[in-house]
Amino acid sequence: MSKGIITHSSARPEIITGLSLPVDETPELLSLRPERLSEYVGQKEAVETLAIAIEAAKLRKEPLDHVLFHGPPGLGKTTLAHIIANEMGSRLTITSGPALEKGGDLVGILTHLEDGDVLFIDEIHRIPKAVEEFLYPAMEDFAVDFVFDKGVHARSHRYRLKRFSLVGATTRVGLLSAPLRDRFGIFRNLDFYSEEDLIVITRRSAHLLGAMIDDGGAGELARRSRGTPRIVNRLLKRVRDYAQVRSDGVISAKTVGEALALEGVDEKGLTRLDRRYLQTIIEFYNGGPVGIEAIAATLQEEADTLVDVVEPYLLKTGLVLRTSSGRRAPESAYLHLGLPVQGKCFP
Ligand SMILES: Nc1ncnc2c1ncn2[C@@H]1O[C@H](COP(=O)(O)OP(=O)(O)O)[C@@H](O)[C@H]1O
Ligand SMILES: [Mg+2]
Repeated sequence: MSKGIITHSSARPEIITGLSLPVDETPELLSLRPERLSEYVGQKEAVETLAIAIEAAKLRKEPLDHVLFHGPPGLGKTTLAHIIANEMGSRLTITSGPALEKGGDLVGILTHLEDGDVLFIDEIHRIPKAVEEFLYPAMEDFAVDFVFDKGVHARSHRYRLKRFSLVGATTRVGLLSAPLRDRFGIFRNLDFYSEEDLIVITRRSAHLLGAMIDDGGAGELARRSRGTPRIVNRLLKRVRDYAQVRSDGVISAKTVGEALALEGVDEKGLTRLDRRYLQTIIEFYNGGPVGIEAIAATLQEEADTLVDVVEPYLLKTGLVLRTSSGRRAPESAYLHLGLPVQGKCFP
């Protein structure tokens, strides 16, 4: 266990994307979060990098290098931040880019860090530029520079910080400024999970929730979870309820299929929004190419939601293509939605 968790967040609620809100902050789903590296399923390369770096830092009695995780929502970035603090035996302080509105917000947090503490900044790409400037010396020299007065009287004072480790997480590494990106010693991309890994996660979560699931059920749930552990956990709860009420309580492939049909999740794990997105490109924009803003306007959704939440998995599975002139629907998207493909030209 970590020595403690301190959370800083703004009074302003997070409303960027309804879909990427942490649906797993309820106590029941929180308990599914792995606490040690050894419990963390999959992402072998990231886990190995971390295991080595953590062990080396502990041997040298130094804080861990600053770590940046990037990848789509729900793949385990926040979980890894908690695990790092646990493995290092450190306190964890949690904040997020949008919560750091002014330089003072960040400086207040930094000056309260103890030696070896882990500071986790979620959505680090959303830190305002003026606040980001304070991070550079903090990360590089464990110092913050205050400037007093203005103009010819300006004086700066350097304040020493304790040696901490910064863990950053972002869904959009492209939006991170180069100076910030370059100050991370460890830089890891989390990719969608394989079906085998998702089966392990499904079984683990079912066990922790006290739900009975057979092989067919675990395979089916894993296949329909968009490669994402967070979705496994969320769907597992729905399926468990369904199995309890409508069948004998054991989760089978059949109960998964029936329960997820009610949730609007199809055989490939696509949600209603995923299908509306594809349908818009195909039916409204004749298969594309079409810009993301136009798709967002037609769907009346935030473009950010589509880019962060919807597109990564569709790109990964080849159901949408990104070209320099916009998004295009390949033949597989027509076939998946059961739409006619005659008369269309495909690459
Ligand atoms: N490698 C993993 N093994 C088991 N469960 C995982 C793993 N990664 C994520 N999870 C589960 O998925 C949930 C979402 O992960 P989280 O770390 O919040 O994702 P992110 O911060 O990337 O959006 C966690 O609460 C945890 O229960
Ligand atoms: Mg997170």
